[in-house]
Amino acid sequence: MKTAVVTGAAQGVGLATAMRLAEQGYRVWLTDAQALDEVVNRLRQTGLDVQGVRGDVSSEDFVKELAATVQASHGAADVLVNNAGISLIAAAEETTAEQWQRVLAVNLLGPFLLCKYFGIQMLAQRSGSIVNVASVAGLRGVIHRSAYNASKHGLIGLTRTLAGEWGGRGIRVNAVCPGWIKTDMDIADQGSGAYSDSDIINRVPMARFARAEDVASAIAFLADSERNGFINGVTLPVDGGWTADASWDSLRTKTR
Ligand SMILES: NC(=O)c1ccc[n+]([C@@H]2O[C@H](COP(=O)([O-])OP(=O)(O)OC[C@H]3O[C@@H](n4cnc5c(N)ncnc54)[C@H](O)[C@@H]3O)[C@@H](O)[C@H]2O)c1
Repeated sequence: MKTAVVTGAAQGVGLATAMRLAEQGYRVWLTDAQALDEVVNRLRQTGLDVQGVRGDVSSEDFVKELAATVQASHGAADVLVNNAGISLIAAAEETTAEQWQRVLAVNLLGPFLLCKYFGIQMLAQRSGSIVNVASVAGLRGVIHRSAYNASKHGLIGLTRTLAGEWGGRGIRVNAVCPGWIKTDMDIADQGSGAYSDSDIINRVPMARFARAEDVASAIAFLADSERNGFINGVTLPVDGGWTADASWDSLRTKTR
């Protein structure tokens, strides 16, 4: 049985991904800053092989201990999904250094630490697959998200660099770049009045938000070394065509 580790797995994309991988036969370790007992019990009741560990991905001590626990239980992890992330909507000139550092710590330092400590195990077994959850905000600028966008651009840089550094030793490293998804992150962001559903729907050629399951499917595909053993270093948009289409909204909506 293969082992997968999914961060930020208490809800949203992380939970959908953990469920998808567990349904595909992986033993899945869910980790999150929030408590996971309820989620893990619910998944176990449906027969899935899951474990939960609570902790902060930006803490090196936590990540080191998590990697050691997984390895001691089942040997090296086969799949790592770096999904945990936080959002920040603020004008650049009003973003504090502390806010910037926290976003970079969770969204970029955390994935680096997880890649490092699980990568050490994967390199020793000369196989493994890492999928980083970036964003369309890692491929394009989006106003009022300087820290978040920098973190996601950085995550794509990390993905490409590790794909090169570790590809020759059997580790593939890829990223997915979702468009806007209806999760708690979006609900909180919209709560600040920054945008509305129609802003997103009008911007997307496929005229809807992404679903957590759309992203989970793409992650599960990239994770699977049997279905795609030669895809390495890609940044796969899961955005309904957002990044492909530079049209203005009225032109796009006229074609519907
Ligand atoms: N929602 C969107 O529109 C959207 C779009 C593109 C990319 N993304 C990315 O997808 C990923 C998942 O987002 P989501 O929409 O499911 O968000 P979400 O807020 O619903 O879930 C994020 C999870 O990460 C956990 N988390 C936050 N900080 C953590 C930390 N320091 N350590 C461990 N866990 C932590 C949270 O507790 C939460 O369970 C994120 O990386 C996000 O940036 C989201």
